[in-house]
Amino acid sequence: MISASTTDRLRMGVLGCADIAWRRTLPAMAADPLTEVVAVASREPAKAARFAARHGGEPVTGYAALLERDDVDAVYIPLPALMHAEWIERALLAGKHVLVEKPMTGGHAETRRLLALARERGLVLLENFMFLFHSQHSAVRKLVADGAIGELRGFGSAFTIPPKPPGDIRYLPAVGGGAFLDFGGYPVRAALHFLGSDLDVVGAVFRRDRTSGSVLSGSVLLCTPDGVPAELTFGMEHSYRNSYHLAGSTGRLLLDRVFTPPESHQPVLRVVRQDHREEFVLPADHQFANVVGAFAQAVLAGGDLRAHDEGTIRQADLMERVTAAARVVTV
Ligand SMILES: NC(=O)c1ccc[n+]([C@@H]2O[C@H](COP(=O)([O-])OP(=O)(O)OC[C@H]3O[C@@H](n4cnc5c(N)ncnc54)[C@H](OP(=O)(O)O)[C@@H]3O)[C@@H](O)[C@H]2O)c1
Repeated sequence: MISASTTDRLRMGVLGCADIAWRRTLPAMAADPLTEVVAVASREPAKAARFAARHGGEPVTGYAALLERDDVDAVYIPLPALMHAEWIERALLAGKHVLVEKPMTGGHAETRRLLALARERGLVLLENFMFLFHSQHSAVRKLVADGAIGELRGFGSAFTIPPKPPGDIRYLPAVGGGAFLDFGGYPVRAALHFLGSDLDVVGAVFRRDRTSGSVLSGSVLLCTPDGVPAELTFGMEHSYRNSYHLAGSTGRLLLDRVFTPPESHQPVLRVVRQDHREEFVLPADHQFANVVGAFAQAVLAGGDLRAHDEGTIRQADLMERVTAAARVVTV
């Protein structure tokens, strides 16, 4: 059992008053019976006070000050992607368990090193790829395994959004890392989930913004050793889309809102064959509540997250290989 807490609830601190924390993660933590938010840190005192007033915990100015507190067992890090590594390391060295927003870091070596450090110190370090905690993907896997679309011939997935306001972290390459790290990780992770870890990079195109220097969008082609391709699209210069499909020898399976379904959303899974079409309405699920609960359980009762460690390492490796292979076009 891994436990740093002397209470029966996990005492969380938050590093950075991020939009995603306000909208999704802090409400899920407030509703979780095993979690209590005790401190919220920002670079700006007024922002910390606003978050604490709404979501609970004490406002703290500065991330380092939060890490010094003895009443914090674990931290949630929703900072811009390229700041994650520094603050994960500082948190682990301060003896705190860490739930970090995706991507865990900007690189494979760094991700491996930090996961090893967490293990060495008996601490939990989990990357918040929350879509993996939604039950809809197991339903898809089961249908495919049961032969609903025959033999798998291909996978496709997209996560695209309209442009963000100027100044958004995704337009700051030095801290946010751009759209591939931020959005591209979702379809890449979905491809690993459905096709297995042995994926080769066939090619990629990244569109890089002339003004900010950030990657805005792109496409990626991956392939399994058996020749099953994965065609992936990501970006922040499109209409909103987050979906995947699996194409088989006898039919196709299609699902929308796969990465960010609201907790009330009942997924509609479509199976399309020659002269036949079926729809399955799946139960709604709350992926943020599930990830917060799994993290608390792992810290308090020693829940096993090793499969996630492996997934995180494979993901970081594949993201790095795609980036190295990408043809970058300045637009
Ligand atoms: N799992 C998901 O569904 C999901 C969804 C969206 C985003 N994310 C991830 O969550 C993280 C945050 O995304 P977000 O959209 O919530 O971003 P955001 O609103 O811009 O929040 C980032 C926070 O980081 C802090 N920060 C520290 N240094 C900064 C700097 N130089 N520039 C900007 N902010 C800085 C700020 O907090 P203070 O001002 O309080 O210090 C800011 O509020 C990213 O890793 C993103 O990929 C995950």
